[in-house]
Amino acid sequence: MKISVIGAGNVGASVAEYIAMKELAPEVVLLDIKEGFAEGKAMDLNQCATLNGFNTHVTGTTNDYSKTAGSSVVVITSGIPRKPGMTREELIGTNAGIVKSVTANVLEHSPEAIIVVISNPMDTMTYLSAKTSGLPKNRIIGMGGILDSARFKYRLSEAMNCNPNDLQGTVIGGHGDTTMIPLTRHASYQSTPVSDHLSAEELENVSAATMVGGATLTKLLGTSAWYAPGAAGAALVEAIVRDQKKVMPCSVYLEGEYGQSDICMGVPVVIGKNGWERIVDYKLNDEEQAKFNKSAEAVRNMNNALEL
Ligand code: APR
Repeated sequence: MKISVIGAGNVGASVAEYIAMKELAPEVVLLDIKEGFAEGKAMDLNQCATLNGFNTHVTGTTNDYSKTAGSSVVVITSGIPRKPGMTREELIGTNAGIVKSVTANVLEHSPEAIIVVISNPMDTMTYLSAKTSGLPKNRIIGMGGILDSARFKYRLSEAMNCNPNDLQGTVIGGHGDTTMIPLTRHASYQSTPVSDHLSAEELENVSAATMVGGATLTKLLGTSAWYAPGAAGAALVEAIVRDQKKVMPCSVYLEGEYGQSDICMGVPVVIGKNGWERIVDYKLNDEEQAKFNKSAEAVRNMNNALEL
């Protein structure tokens, strides 16, 4: 089995590192357009093998897609990252061109691959892949919700002073600062609602901090984050290649589910060897559904900027 990661920048290299550490495949191919860059990252990662005890080989290549041939999963991280003060939406023009050509190149050599999209604006890039690739909808998965949910649980654990692994929490909707929806009503601490442990105001603060989670890091780092995005990407790849049937919030093509059609947005889906296999209905209340519809409107506005 082979897994390819397109874009060997901060996020791509981090995805490749976690995939190697988890030994999800014997070979990971890192591809970048920048001459020698992926080769360098691959060599650096391979030199971790004896230190971290893994036996996954990382192959680096400058834009040679034949090296990615026969990949089971391809993770797309190529594009430009957000700079401080830049919204994900502002990235659209540049990244759309990159994601469209990368998807076509990838499928030429790996027609059976499941495509994981990380490049931002993620929901729009996932929609672009879904509309232009001709693949069955279950083989295109946008990663954002897994990352947003991890950030939600981190914020909850801080507010509750508890182990984040005792928490369940899901963020649905668009993967944008104003479009994501942390589902506080559904979040739990070892089977007890988090509202038993936090006041409405505290929960509101947790939601607000979650929603600007990416922007907060971009401001601190001067570019967008990579450890958690990389770990979230690798967790998604793991669920696919190990056929885990895990429920993960991912951006997928909706056809009436959650009241929306012809759009990719974050909803809870079961992930396994076929990609996303089923959408789980969380039975939103009226307030949550209204937020989801508003989020869809914003994502749709962005999709309208695509030249399909
Ligand atoms: N083909 C292959 N690689 C490309 C292409 C292309 N057409 N265009 C750009 N790249 C590469 C760049 O050379 C760079 O190495 O994509 C890489 C992007 O890496 P970074 O600039 O470090 O960006 P990163 O932080 O990894 O973010 C990548 O993920 O989270 C999102 O918003 C983020 O869209 C951005 C993406």
